[in-house]
Parts: sequence; C-alpha cells; structure tokens
Amino acid sequence: MAPVPLSPVKVGHIDDVQELRNAKPTTIPERFVRDMTERPTLATALSSTSDIPVIDFSKLIKGDKDEVHSEILKLGIACEEWGFFQVINHDIELSLLESIEKLAKEFFMLPLEEKQKYPMIPGTLQGYGQAFVFSEDQKLDWCNMFALGVEPHYIRNPKLWPTKPAKFSETVELYSKEVRALCNNLLKYIAMSLGLRQQAFEEMFGVAVQAIRMNYYPACSRPDLVLGLSPHSDGSALTVLQQGKGSSVGLQILKDNTWVPVQPIPNALVINIGDTLEVLSNGKYKSVEHRAVTHKEKDRLSLVTFYAPSYEIELGPMPEFVDESNPCKYRRYNHGEYSKHYVTSKLQGKKALDFAKIHTKI
Ligand code: OGA
Ligand code: NI
Repeated sequence: MAPVPLSPVKVGHIDDVQELRNAKPTTIPERFVRDMTERPTLATALSSTSDIPVIDFSKLIKGDKDEVHSEILKLGIACEEWGFFQVINHDIELSLLESIEKLAKEFFMLPLEEKQKYPMIPGTLQGYGQAFVFSEDQKLDWCNMFALGVEPHYIRNPKLWPTKPAKFSETVELYSKEVRALCNNLLKYIAMSLGLRQQAFEEMFGVAVQAIRMNYYPACSRPDLVLGLSPHSDGSALTVLQQGKGSSVGLQILKDNTWVPVQPIPNALVINIGDTLEVLSNGKYKSVEHRAVTHKEKDRLSLVTFYAPSYEIELGPMPEFVDESNPCKYRRYNHGEYSKHYVTSKLQGKKALDFAKIHTKI
C-alpha cells in the first residue's frame, strides 16, 4: 500500500466502500448508519412526481430570436425555482461522454492498492478517498471519490493524475475543456436571464477554477440506512453532473422540503447553481441543497465538474439585485477564502454559506 502522508486531521478508520461491498458484511458498519432523522426514507423519496426543467442548449445557441428568448426565460425560471436543470443538445460529443464514463469505471475497478497510489489526504479535496471527513465520529457517505483540480494549472497536483487506466488523464483533460466551454456559454445565458450583460460573469470571474470529482456509489444492502452523499449545496458558481448510463436513480434535490429524485435523461447533463451565483444574485437564484442515495442492487457513477471564479476575486451581491425590498443578504468576501472554508467543513446542507450570510435581526 502506498504510504499515506501524515495529516493533522484525525478521521479514524475509513472503510473503502467498494471493499466493504465485496466483503458483504451481514450488517452495515455503524459509521455508515445514519441517525433516524437523516435516513432516506422511501416515503419522502417517492412523494414527488415532478421533474426538474429541461433546457435545450441548441435553441440557445442556434435558435431564431423567439426561440432564444423563450429558452432564456425558461432558463431563468429553472434557476429561480429549481436551482437545477438538465441540458440536452449540449454539443459535447457523445463519444467523449462515453469514454470518460468508461475510464472512470475502469479506474474505480482497479485494485485498491493501485487507487491508493493517489490518496486523498484528510482535509483536502484531491485524489482517491472520502472527502469532507474531519472527525473520528463523523458519519461516512456510502461513496468512493476520486477528485482532481484541473484549471488553472497551478491547482493541479501532478502526482495525483493516474497513469492507469491508459488515456485516463488525457481524457479528463479533453472532457474538462468541453465542459469548461459549456459552463462559459451557460453563464452567458444565465447572465442574460438575470438582465445582465452577456459577459458579466466571465469578466468578473477571471481565470475560472475548475475541478472534477468522480463519485462511485456501490450497491448497498441497506439503502434505507445510509446516504451516498450527505446533503449539501455546491461551493461553485455552476456544477455540471454527468450520470453514468444505466446507473440507478440516486441524485435528489430538496424542493419545498421534499427530496425530489432527478430522473436521468440519456446523454443530458445535470446543471446546478452553486453558492457563488446565489451570492452574486443576492439570493434570486439559489444553490439548492441536494444529496445522493444508494440502491440495493445497482452501482452508480457520477462525474461532477465544479466551475468557480478565480480565488483572488472579491464577491458579494451585485448592486442590480439589491434595493429597498431586497436588502443585501450576503457580505463581500474573497472567493479563495470561501473555497477554503467550504473544503474544510463537513457537508451539512447549506451551512457553508453562513460564512457569507448577513444575519438581520427581526
Ligand atoms: C457532488 C454531488 C451528486 C451525485 O458531487 O457535489 O452533488 O449524484 N453529487 O453524485
Ligand atoms: Ni453537489
């Protein structure tokens, strides 16, 4: 096994979930069993039938004037009422989506010793392991993760870029370029949906920070007791999520106090608003809380890209969204500091955003 560098964070023993699955224990280890209030009961998961909005990207970039206009309106409603939408006809080649998915699967199927050549050091967010664990008694997610910082290059840790499977790193690079262009484009239309200039976010963000996280959720004999991924909002501006083909339904979003499952649409990408856009729009667009649940028989893979402003950028609500009836809800802060705060806190709903919230007394 590769030596794991010493870390100041004491996290106790963390079982590798795939190994655990293969060992088929008769009971789920205590650290994965959620308290009653956190368990994903069947009733809440099935109580909603509505689906998240679908945006046709080709209408945004190639449509006639009316189509562009109505799709931007749709996009605005999706961001305001859901914070989540699926994008179809997004122009990223299907073959690229398929190859990154295949390689990610192959990576997770490698022997543990091979994956542990790229260890995620507790308290950091790159490499293979369990992210967001900060104490010995914290409950664990039923998930193995592999994460890489991609852009700008200085955030990369070259030692963590796998040499196996062949073409893995090369494909991550190609895929990330395409997803970056998509984020950049979507942000233009999101800006327009807010009544801002097309380039407003691009100009503000500087050289955007981009990271990729691959989440592998093995089947779990007791999906009613565990969570695949704890409830959280994303610290990014935008997140792009690719759901593995044939995977079980696992992503759920919190809408009107109900967990709504996101039904995968073949070849579509799931997009969500992160904390940055919530702050910039002074809460008009919200970074909606979401989580992942597991399945009794099926594994699930998701490939997630986080797109955020450059770390040196100062952020706060844009003046366009602050007036007498919409008082300023967030303070100004440095995005690098927020990122640091985000990655060094456990995932806990929308708690990370308390960092920026202005608490008004009533
Ligand atoms: C995430 C995330 C959900 C999923 O990685 O931030 O929300 O379905 N993932 O894997
Ligand atoms: Ni997320």
